Amino acid sequence: MQRLATAPLSIIIAPDPRLKARARVVRAEDRATLPPLIEGMFAAMYAAPGIGLAAPQVGVSLRLLVIDLQPEDKPAPLVLINPEILATSEERVTREEGCLSLPNQYADITRPARVSVRYSDLAGAARQIAAEGLLAACLQHEIDHLNGILFIDHLSPLKRNMILRRLAKEQRQKAAG
Ligand code: NI
Repeated sequence: MQRLATAPLSIIIAPDPRLKARARVVRAEDRATLPPLIEGMFAAMYAAPGIGLAAPQVGVSLRLLVIDLQPEDKPAPLVLINPEILATSEERVTREEGCLSLPNQYADITRPARVSVRYSDLAGAARQIAAEGLLAACLQHEIDHLNGILFIDHLSPLKRNMILRRLAKEQRQKAAG
């Protein structure tokens, strides 16, 4: 029998208080609920399309994120449970960022160029990743989401409000059809 594809979970658009909350740690008793959540998150991320999604963006306050940079257009899904930044480089780089919770909005964000991150995989094993380039930025952006931080929170209040106003206007126009 053909397996039904998981329906994508719907992504919360800013501003929304659920995007500003600190997510709680994933505990052992949560693990049984994770596979359908993760599948729904990947489905939403690929449909958007995007390269990363954190559980709070689908209204689930857990420290869990999914990433797929799709190098050479091939899927390379990564699931990080309870990720923690262990170290960051002194060197910082500026890169344009966007976010599925702020569709069509982009801004240059400066962050450490390299990070090392500790996390658990789906089997509960402790893992560590050292990243640079796009993956380093993506990891920091997604881990920010677990702490209620959006990429626009790294900007001046003036720029942040400009983006939020533009987003609200576009969302109103979209709702009006
Ligand atoms: Ni984001």
